[in-house]
Amino acid sequence: MAEHANLAREYEDRTRKLATSPELWNTWYFDHLRLALSELKADWPDRRLLALDALGGTGKTALFLQQHGADVVLNDVSPEMTAVYRRIAGELGLPAEVALAPIEAYLDLESTPQFSLITASSALHHLQDYEHVLRQFYEHLEPGGFVHTAWDPLPRSKVVRTLGKAEYYLTLARRPRAMARGLRNRIRRRVAARDTAEAIDHEFHKAIDDAELLRTAQAIGFAVRAHHRNAGGALRVTKPLWRLFGAHTTFALLLQRPAD
Ligand SMILES: C[S@@+](CC[C@H](N)C(=O)[O-])C[C@H]1O[C@@H](n2cnc3c(N)ncnc32)[C@H](O)[C@@H]1O
Repeated sequence: MAEHANLAREYEDRTRKLATSPELWNTWYFDHLRLALSELKADWPDRRLLALDALGGTGKTALFLQQHGADVVLNDVSPEMTAVYRRIAGELGLPAEVALAPIEAYLDLESTPQFSLITASSALHHLQDYEHVLRQFYEHLEPGGFVHTAWDPLPRSKVVRTLGKAEYYLTLARRPRAMARGLRNRIRRRVAARDTAEAIDHEFHKAIDDAELLRTAQAIGFAVRAHHRNAGGALRVTKPLWRLFGAHTTFALLLQRPAD
């Protein structure tokens, strides 16, 4: 649990900044969410939209959706992460409805409602059986509703491994202190997380094959509305190289349950 607290603190500043800086919403990630919201509002102009932010953590996505007119249930297993969400929502004068449970169990409850939008940011690879959860998402979507998943890691191609290594040494040379701090935090997390299954950054899957996931989503019944691969690169000077070589590290999907 100390582990959760450390990570929640790391997330808190980032989430607060994002929730209060609309100029940071000008990215493909928020474009996908805006696209889903605008279609839902056009289809159901008189209805409140109910969204589920699955594995929502400190509420990066939930707070955006709330500020765009949706009611949101944020699900997560971590009391520390959801406490941060409650705090930031309170500061912004927004309600905070939290479902503190494993997503698999929450979606099995009879009392869990149907949603018009389900988001899962940096989430699927944290789940032991993400295909099962994708099926649960489908069952809990209203016809015409959307699922958005993002920031799951792709299998690392050779070009990604090469650029990653080059960037590592470049950063080591330019910012040795920041690198040492990052390494120290990672070691601390590993040591603190004796039961790694409980650590919030525990990943069941190092990578997800997006083509395979797309086939699964279509077999479940979803229509694919958007598929995005995100080029890696942590430094401003090297980012163009990652884009030039098509060095993609994560992906996103916008899926829709067809209307009846
Ligand atoms: C990498 S964080 C992502 C948080 C947030 N979605 C974001 O993008 O900032 C992963 C989150 O998943 C939560 N988590 C892991 N397994 C879970 C499960 N089975 N059910 C619900 N939450 C889970 C963790 O507590 C953690 O907050």
